[in-house]
Amino acid sequence: ALRLCTQVSRVPFEAFNFGRGGSMRGLKVAVVGAVGGIGQPLTLLLKQNPHISVLSIHDIRNTAGVAADLSHINTPATVCNFEGKSGLKKAMDKADIVVIPAGLPRKPGMRREDLVDVNASVACEVAHAASAVCPGALLAFITNPINVIVPIVATILKAKGTYDPNRLFGVTTLDVVRSKTFIGDILNVDPRTVDLPVIGGHTGHTILPILSQCQPLYKGSDEERQALIRRIQEAGTEVVKAKDGLGSATLSMAYAAYHFVESLIKGIKGSKDECIVECAYVDSDVTEAKFFATQLILGPQGIKENIGLPEMDDEEKQALECMLPNLKKSIENGIKLGEEMS
Ligand code: LMR
Repeated sequence: ALRLCTQVSRVPFEAFNFGRGGSMRGLKVAVVGAVGGIGQPLTLLLKQNPHISVLSIHDIRNTAGVAADLSHINTPATVCNFEGKSGLKKAMDKADIVVIPAGLPRKPGMRREDLVDVNASVACEVAHAASAVCPGALLAFITNPINVIVPIVATILKAKGTYDPNRLFGVTTLDVVRSKTFIGDILNVDPRTVDLPVIGGHTGHTILPILSQCQPLYKGSDEERQALIRRIQEAGTEVVKAKDGLGSATLSMAYAAYHFVESLIKGIKGSKDECIVECAYVDSDVTEAKFFATQLILGPQGIKENIGLPEMDDEEKQALECMLPNLKKSIENGIKLGEEMS
């Protein structure tokens, strides 16, 4: 598997990141939607990363208080804040990484797909701003429905001539985090020591944890395995129900998104000894779905290599076949919306 760790040539990264002085330089990370339920804990975690020199926070309003608060934390990152439509480009200007938790959360009874109409405009604004002021940035979208939002953004960036499939990510890390936690509980081991790929998308049965590849080995009965898969697929809904109208996962999502951004940063910094592998929903040719989450090796320009489909047992192969039509429909919808918004 370590054939995957070979170096690739550095192509357009510096060209895009004007003023970037190489890997020793601190990074600018922008958070769009920084005042919301995910945004605030996410910025708290980001403020602690020593590789970030500028933490740029953006939201519709009320950024001054969050920025003042964060700025008192004795870590190197300088915090700057911007608001509204007019502030978006300033917030993202020359960013190395943009993380986007902006958008409305689900209420009980809603599916993630029901958020397309309200959240597509956020994605569209970010895509236009990224094309204009940080075309070389790594873009990490948390905004739901991820399965549709990422194709929307890709289509807009393509129309603008700034699309680099290696730099656009739908964050699915929480599906991996949850899988590790639930399996850790069952096996009675430290959940941090559990590892498995979670592939597909980020809703319902498009979330496919590949239990057959779990380390340490997970051997449940058929019924136990089905129940575990179902819990992982419905974990977001579990939180939405428990919050009872007050939104969806914020703390675990912030944790997961931070973990993902930390890996993007490690990729940018280019560790020789460590192979940085994360699952994310990206432009893909590993299945018939044009966007698909698999394990990726991250490097200085985002995706260095897509590891592709893991080994799967027959049930997992069947579950993959079952999810594809649904996922492809979401992607087609995203591409159509993206074309309309370009
Ligand atoms: C999650 O998985 O918790 C998020 O996608 C939020 C949601 O609506 O479930």
